[in-house]
This record gives sequence, C-alpha cells and structure tokens, in this order.
Amino acid sequence: MYTQAMDIPGGPKAVAPGSPEEAAFNARIARDEKIEPRDWMPEAYRKTLVRQISQHAHSEVVGMLPEGNWITRAPSLKRKAILMAKVQDEGGHGLYLYAAAETLGVSRDDLIDALHAGKAKYSSIFNYAALSWADMGAIGWLVDGAAIMNQIPLCRCSYGPYARAMIRICKEESFHQRQGFDIMLALCRGTPAQKQMAQDALDRWWWPVVQMFGPPDADSVHSGATMAWGIKRISNDDLRQKFIDATVPQAELLGLTIPDPHLKWNGERGHYDIGPIDWDEFWRAVGGDGPCSRERIATRVRAQEEGAWVREAALAHARKQAARARKAA
Ligand SMILES: [Fe+2]
Ligand SMILES: [Fe+2]
Repeated sequence: MYTQAMDIPGGPKAVAPGSPEEAAFNARIARDEKIEPRDWMPEAYRKTLVRQISQHAHSEVVGMLPEGNWITRAPSLKRKAILMAKVQDEGGHGLYLYAAAETLGVSRDDLIDALHAGKAKYSSIFNYAALSWADMGAIGWLVDGAAIMNQIPLCRCSYGPYARAMIRICKEESFHQRQGFDIMLALCRGTPAQKQMAQDALDRWWWPVVQMFGPPDADSVHSGATMAWGIKRISNDDLRQKFIDATVPQAELLGLTIPDPHLKWNGERGHYDIGPIDWDEFWRAVGGDGPCSRERIATRVRAQEEGAWVREAALAHARKQAARARKAA
C-alpha cells in the first residue's frame, strides 16, 4: 500500500529552524494539505509520527492476544467465525500501520524489537485479562468503541500514509464495535447468570477503557505539538467525554449499570460528569506493570521466535524467484 515511498534514502534532510522549508511546511499544515513521505518535514514531526504510529501498530498486534485466547472457547460456530475475522482484522491493522511507519525511514524489525525489549509502549488496555466470554462483548463494545473515537479524527491527520491507513481501519473498527455490542445484547437478553456475566465484564473494563484516552489534557506532554501539526485533532479529555456521552445510553439500552456512582447528566454542560479517574493505575499499566503486561510481551516474543522459519522461508523463496527472473531475462 505504501511501498512507493519506502526507498527514500535516509529520510528528509535536516534544515535550520526558521528555514524556507519549515515555513513552507507550516503553510501546508495551515492549508490542511497532506504531508507525504518524500516531502520535507521537521525532525520532531517525523519522530512524533514514528512514536505514535508505531505505538498504534503495537497496540493492534498486542490487542490480538486477549481475544485470540477466546477463539477456541467461543460459544458457537458463528461467534467463532466472527471472532477469528476480528482478530485477523487487528493483525491487518498492525500491518498497515507498520508499513505507514516505515515510510518515515524506520524499519519494522527495529520497531518490533523495541516492543519486545519493553522499550516501546502500546495501549494500556491490552494489559488486562479477558476472563469470560462476556469480555469479548465488553472489549468489542467498549475498547473498539473507544478506538473509533480516537481514530476517526486520525483519518484527517496531516501525514498522508497514516490518514489513509486509518480510513480502512475505522471501517473495520465500527464492525468490531457492533459485534461486541451484539454479544452484550445476547447476554443481557439471556438468563440472569448471562446478564450478570455482562455486568461483571462492564465492571472490570469500564475504568481501564476510560483511562485508554490517555492522561488529562493538563498533564498530556505530547498534545500541544501534535495538535499544532494536525496529527491529533481532538484532545484526550474531549475524546473521553464524547465516548462517555455516546456509551451511557447504550449501557441503559442493555440494562447494565456503569460502575461509577458519580456518573450524572450535567444539563448545564450538556455532558455526563464522571467520578475521579485512578491515574496511578493507568501509569502502572502503561509502564509495563499491568495485570498481564509481562505475559503479553512474553507471548509476542514467543510468536516472533516461532515464526522465524516462515520469514526465512519466504525470503529464500523470494531470492530464488528473483534469481530465476534474472536468468530468464
Ligand atoms: Fe484495530
Ligand atoms: Fe478493532
């Protein structure tokens, strides 16, 4: 998808701040034009994008793990087929995003090595355990629902390859959200025990999902620059509020209770107010000390090692094909 730009030697050249190149870049951002891989860009813009796109890619592939664990235990053939398709979609999202990151002059292997060495971050949410089938519903409904809120504005991101990758990803995420809600709906219309499973999943996932939007705007170190560059369009707190406002009526429709005694409609603001967020828990989960952090990385490392022979075989095959093509020519 983005291979046209992967051969740029050494990435964009450095220029002094305040240079004509930088002025032209800023003017393009102000006109809401897309920046493409071959265009000049400030080094800080490139680095910010590499950090954000690679964290996003890592989140997609680590996000496959909690749900991948449930494929063999799905309650019906239909649910199994849907869950398998969803987990495959997430792998595809990782692929588009690693490819988008590579247009900025980094290698996918290096990005994956950083993830496996514990140096790269990914979404805090995937460090939580999926304990019951209802968690497949809660993850789709809430985690993919939160991802959509975050990702829709990224379709208008100033960096072309990232924005284009997000368009397809968002279409698939909206299917993920609906399949999750459908699982919740089936459970809530089922036996009292099934409804209790759904409530229990909501109780465990709600706060980690609210935290997923990232630290409050006042403490968000990267927000200012990413907003100015048109990478991020809506702040963490505003996205969180949009998500809460959209999700509360859905929980009411399911007949479930959101585990926040302070949750209340505020007519003056036209939004829901919520209780205090436990930011210590968020920082622990982001920093590699979440309930499943070590297990997730260990699983990723094992998958990488066990898949080495496939990558080697594919490369050997490609070399053989190229040699044959040369000989024929
Ligand atoms: Fe995804
Ligand atoms: Fe998804």
